[in-house]
Amino acid sequence: MTTLGIVGAGHIGSTVARLAVDAGVDVVLANSRGPETLADLVADLGPRARAGTATDAASAGDLVVLTVPLKALGDLPADAFDGQVVLDTGNYYPQRDGRIPDLDDGSSTASELTARTLPGARVVKVFNNIFFEHLGALARPEAPAGSDERSVLAIAGDDTAAKQAATELLDTIGYDVVDAGPLAEGWRFQPDTPAYGLPYDGSSDGTWSGATAKRVGAQELRDALTAATRG
Ligand SMILES: NC(=O)c1ccc[n+]([C@@H]2O[C@H](COP(=O)([O-])OP(=O)(O)OC[C@H]3O[C@@H](n4cnc5c(N)ncnc54)[C@H](OP(=O)(O)O)[C@@H]3O)[C@@H](O)[C@H]2O)c1
Repeated sequence: MTTLGIVGAGHIGSTVARLAVDAGVDVVLANSRGPETLADLVADLGPRARAGTATDAASAGDLVVLTVPLKALGDLPADAFDGQVVLDTGNYYPQRDGRIPDLDDGSSTASELTARTLPGARVVKVFNNIFFEHLGALARPEAPAGSDERSVLAIAGDDTAAKQAATELLDTIGYDVVDAGPLAEGWRFQPDTPAYGLPYDGSSDGTWSGATAKRVGAQELRDALTAATRG
């Protein structure tokens, strides 16, 4: 893969962009305010990065990282995501996103909502259960896959080839993968589950930063996914 689209250029989007650029992947970034507002970020990322519209970023390569607040899903150019592997980082926070009954009652998951909103997209849930500074700090692109230097991230999705593409991107930027199953199992690493955020933090006082990042291996993550209960 040579080009990664990134729709949403905030905490997670800019962190994934940095990891991708450092791994030799070109990125096309978009936010809600227009490409010109991303000039500083693009300059900082260097020649592998450029800014575009959400349509540009969604159609720039075979993979797109979608990393916007859930409340913005309806504003996206849905057709531009048709056929694309979409790596969905979204979490549901009612205080930010407003009340969504299907998510409140547990009958659906955040990434199933994304898949319904972008019906042509091949959605893979990933990057949603790690704090952005930990994501930046724990990447080990030079370490062999499966080595004890690597951390793992959970993925969920209904499209086997899309999950394989996501796994390859994660390997490129320095992460291994634990497959949590179909999108409907994505609740296992949503907010308020054992796999959400905490495993990657080694601080004693809850003051999270890149410096408090803690490696998470496959068995630890599998155990956390298994321990999840649906509220
Ligand atoms: N922060 C974390 O550590 C973390 C970790 C895991 C998962 N998440 C989840 O990942 C998602 C993104 O989180 P974040 O912290 O990266 O958010 P953020 O820092 O607030 O950034 C959100 C980005 O989305 C863009 N955006 C909003 N509406 C858009 C639209 N219609 N079209 C294109 N871009 C749009 C924003 O652009 P403008 O600035 O121009 O509005 C901004 O670049 C959320 O669901 C969050 O819960 C966050």
